Amino acid sequence: MVMISQIPQEFIDDLLTRIDIVHIIDSRVPLEKIGKNVRACCPFHSEKTASFTVSPEKQFYHCFGCSAHGTAISFLMKYDTMSFPEAIQELATHVGMTVPTSQLAHKTTNSNNLYGLLQRVSKYFVHQLHSHSQRGKFVNYLNQRGLSEQTIEKFNIGIAVKSWDNILKTFGHTKQETALLSDVGLLSHNDKGHIYDRFRNRIMFPIQDRRGRIIGFGGRVLDDSTPKYLNSPETKVFHKGQELYGLYQTRLANYRLTRIIIVEGYMDVITLADRGIINAVATLGTATTPAHLQHLLRSAPEVVFCFDGDNAGRAAAWRVAENALPVLGGNHEIKFMILPEGEDPESIVKKEGADSFNKRVENAQGYSNYFFSILQDGVDIRSMDGRARLVEIAKPYLRNIPAGVYRDMFEQRLAEISQTNLLMLNKHLERSKNKQQKAALRKSSDMVSLVRMAITILLQHPNLRQNIEKSTNIERLDQPGIDILVCLLETLHNNPHLNTAALLERWRGAQNNEYMQLLAKQPLSLSANSLQYELIGTVQKLREQALVERQSYLTNKTLNQLTDAEKKEVQSFNV
Ligand code: GTP
Ligand code: MN
Repeated sequence: MVMISQIPQEFIDDLLTRIDIVHIIDSRVPLEKIGKNVRACCPFHSEKTASFTVSPEKQFYHCFGCSAHGTAISFLMKYDTMSFPEAIQELATHVGMTVPTSQLAHKTTNSNNLYGLLQRVSKYFVHQLHSHSQRGKFVNYLNQRGLSEQTIEKFNIGIAVKSWDNILKTFGHTKQETALLSDVGLLSHNDKGHIYDRFRNRIMFPIQDRRGRIIGFGGRVLDDSTPKYLNSPETKVFHKGQELYGLYQTRLANYRLTRIIIVEGYMDVITLADRGIINAVATLGTATTPAHLQHLLRSAPEVVFCFDGDNAGRAAAWRVAENALPVLGGNHEIKFMILPEGEDPESIVKKEGADSFNKRVENAQGYSNYFFSILQDGVDIRSMDGRARLVEIAKPYLRNIPAGVYRDMFEQRLAEISQTNLLMLNKHLERSKNKQQKAALRKSSDMVSLVRMAITILLQHPNLRQNIEKSTNIERLDQPGIDILVCLLETLHNNPHLNTAALLERWRGAQNNEYMQLLAKQPLSLSANSLQYELIGTVQKLREQALVERQSYLTNKTLNQLTDAEKKEVQSFNV
């Protein structure tokens, strides 16, 4: 990638998420809305039917007639014959932004500063819990929830006292510091432009990433007011869909985890830890994402999902089961435990004690048992019609399980329950299975298209990046386009809000610019949901390929050709 201007990339990114290409073009070439796209007769070649389309989603224009295409910046450069900085200036004026003239703005938002600030603020919240004049009610609350001093300390629990500007005053002495506070999500802005502390009068739970760095906070009220929890917004360092609360503490306490329990709430994790159950983690109030699942399965061979015994809990459990289909099999196990009606892990561990809770975990339902018990709900398998229906209901799910032993056994189980024989069942499942296998073959025989597919999906649906782990270890792969893919993954990890246009702008002037533009407009026929799995599957295949390549590269070396680090790596292959 080439940095072609002195204008900070972040500014351009920000600009491109604030402007709307439709408005920009419409004020010069009147557009007409047809379906999802907006059209006009192309201003860059003469035509009678409208083949110039603008995609509000991708913030990108494209003419099917003359192939002109680009972002709002490109449009202004071409249509108004502006230079790049002029186009930026024009767009900035349009949305009331000021173009920064030096790299200063860039420097101040670098991630290290953000982690450092979050760490200092967290320490401050903890300090307030021990020293502030308002501390009494908070301490009472924590006592009443039954948390020990050690647990409070272990999870770095603190307080944000009742004040509009405590944090602002303590940490925002200069404009730059205030901007930094805002970047880490510690400030709120109202309509009138007033700035104040985001977290007020709340118990503060710092959220740590795998490495123990503080990346955000969850803040709980002391009473019944709403929202009960306020979380940090998505920031450069905080991505809700990727993180698990308590994972750092869990890892710290267990060198080799054999089992990890996923519960719903922060307080569940903390209370369980307080009672000696130190392998529980929670999502940050969001559903379990495929990225979570991948992390969890890497963290421990057995993953037990524990849900509250209410409707929401049961629904969430089933969503996890659906999301887990593509990762079933292999040498890991997914289990479910649904607590009795009205209970959550905190209440039950307090009522029954840790041993009893552990017993429940021990007896958690295996994936297939859970799956079939839910599927059979409301189907009368005593009747033939009911059993036939069961097969029909199960079919689409089975297709999502990767081909292998697990899937075969799953099918056998379905055959047993539905009292069909495997042969007959397979006849019904076969058609779709063949199609899938062929598609898989076609893909794995063509690595270039794997890389290309991943780039295309990411370019057109940048938000799907959140389902992929932070580091993929595919950069060593010797494939054309791999550098672009790695760069895209990293860019989107650091800037999850970039849209297609903002991504394309980063390749402006680069060697691969044309290629990227081409992929950005290539039609993708799958639904967003299928694309998500397509992307995960594609990256997974590349990762496996990278590992195979690396293994054969290292094992082809003699022992004294290996560096110490490489020797360690070779050993790790053999575990
Ligand atoms: P307690 O009520 O203190 O026991 O909290 P809890 O941690 O057990 O939470 P609960 O089971 O009620 O909810 C599960 C998780 O959902 C919480 O830990 C939060 O992450 C999230 N959550 C709950 N309420 C809210 C809310 O009002 N806003 C947001 N953003 N998240 C919430
Ligand atoms: Mn709770």
